[in-house]
Amino acid sequence: MSTLRRKFVCQKCGFESIQWLGKCPNCSSWNSFAEEIESKQKLKSSRSKLENSRLVNLKSIDKTIDHSNLRFNTGFDEFDRVLGGGVIQGSVVLIAGDPGIGKSTLLLQVVSNLNEKVIYVTGEESIEQIKFRSTRLKIKNENLFILQETNLNNILHIIERENPKVVVIDSIQTIYNDLLEGAPGTIGQIRECTTYLMNLAKKENIAIFIIGHITKDGLIAGPKALEHIVDTVLQFSGEKNYSFRILRAIKNRFGSTNEIGIFEMHTDGLKEVANPSQVFLSEREYGASGTVVTPIIEGTRPILVEVQALVTPSNFGMPQRVTTGFDYRRLSILLAVLEKRLNYKLSQHNVFLNIAGGVEIDEPSADLAVCAAIVSSIKDIPADSLTCMVGEVGLSGEIRSVSNLETRIMEAEKLGFKKTIIPSQVLRSIVSKSKIEIVQCKNLTDAIKEILE
Ligand code: TYD
Ligand code: MG
Repeated sequence: MSTLRRKFVCQKCGFESIQWLGKCPNCSSWNSFAEEIESKQKLKSSRSKLENSRLVNLKSIDKTIDHSNLRFNTGFDEFDRVLGGGVIQGSVVLIAGDPGIGKSTLLLQVVSNLNEKVIYVTGEESIEQIKFRSTRLKIKNENLFILQETNLNNILHIIERENPKVVVIDSIQTIYNDLLEGAPGTIGQIRECTTYLMNLAKKENIAIFIIGHITKDGLIAGPKALEHIVDTVLQFSGEKNYSFRILRAIKNRFGSTNEIGIFEMHTDGLKEVANPSQVFLSEREYGASGTVVTPIIEGTRPILVEVQALVTPSNFGMPQRVTTGFDYRRLSILLAVLEKRLNYKLSQHNVFLNIAGGVEIDEPSADLAVCAAIVSSIKDIPADSLTCMVGEVGLSGEIRSVSNLETRIMEAEKLGFKKTIIPSQVLRSIVSKSKIEIVQCKNLTDAIKEILE
């Protein structure tokens, strides 16, 4: 009797079917099915663990368990903060990012300060390559062990035998379970291996960091399938051409998803950026037209970033609109507002918009700065370099209120700005003590006049 079960699995969403399908009925993607073969032996064994299952009355669970005791710090503050104040023992953290962004570097640095036993499982690089990197990062941790292995069962066996406190899996796409016939990196393999690692983490109380590459279409490979298995999903991102890297929690069972950590890649590894505003503004060109500074909120922290616009006449055909770090559709709306309400003939101009430093803005509070930068570029008049502005721009050219306004104003003051242009919303009293001049504007015309003249 055959002990193998064949199935076809959509590599995008994990939908299973007993036959090959051209189009996935679940996520509508084409040509995404791959065959996976599963051994029945495994299915049987998973059912035989009933004796381990027991009911526990919620009331009887020991209340004195203090979760702060279960956490430990890595000594890498930005990293600990994103996790919600340190690593939770027995948790599984997925770190996702584009290839080459610095995931292996980050984790090697994170585990380099721990005093407990760490196993770094590498399926991608040789032991010599890891050694080379750790020399470059000046790592001298005696508790760090490297395992070059891709077979899941061997990895699990060694972890159980060695009993480390922290394990790094680099990367989940290279690990495979030989009971499953699919190639490493298929959704079935990834899901299977992650589930086993998760069970082991809980059973042995080991913190496991899993590195996962993001596929071409920007999804964490086996996206949804992995996100719900693990405790925490961190995304490590940044523009390849910039040295800044941002670590963001997308899901966190043990903390908020608001915090971000900012790092800078140097020749000897990642360094924490304690004062992001200063760094993002450090390369500012004073006196140039088309740039305006705005305070955005990343997580719970305010960061000042520079919005740069370049507007040039388009002589033929469709004018171009190119954005980096800002939503393309949002820019189209703002251009329409500038055209209709302020009479700028932008349909005959190319507009290039860039948020300096590789930062991504996903809140409307930067609208005002974007509009002002565009107008500054059209008129070729530099905006006042000691003034920053914040506000959402509505369709009739009105300036709408933003959240955390006081925090933004205080950050601008701290960085030496003399004036800030804000929506006409009620301010909490803390800003009345600040030295920065606060100008409240109701509409776009007034606000732009304030900063350009
Ligand atoms: P890596 O951690 O290998 O990326 P990932 O694991 O996400 O694929 O890092 C890749 C890049 O980082 C590589 O292009 C070289 C660069 N790098 C530095 O700039 N400085 C360093 O100290 C190290 C170790 C890497
Ligand atoms: Mg790597």
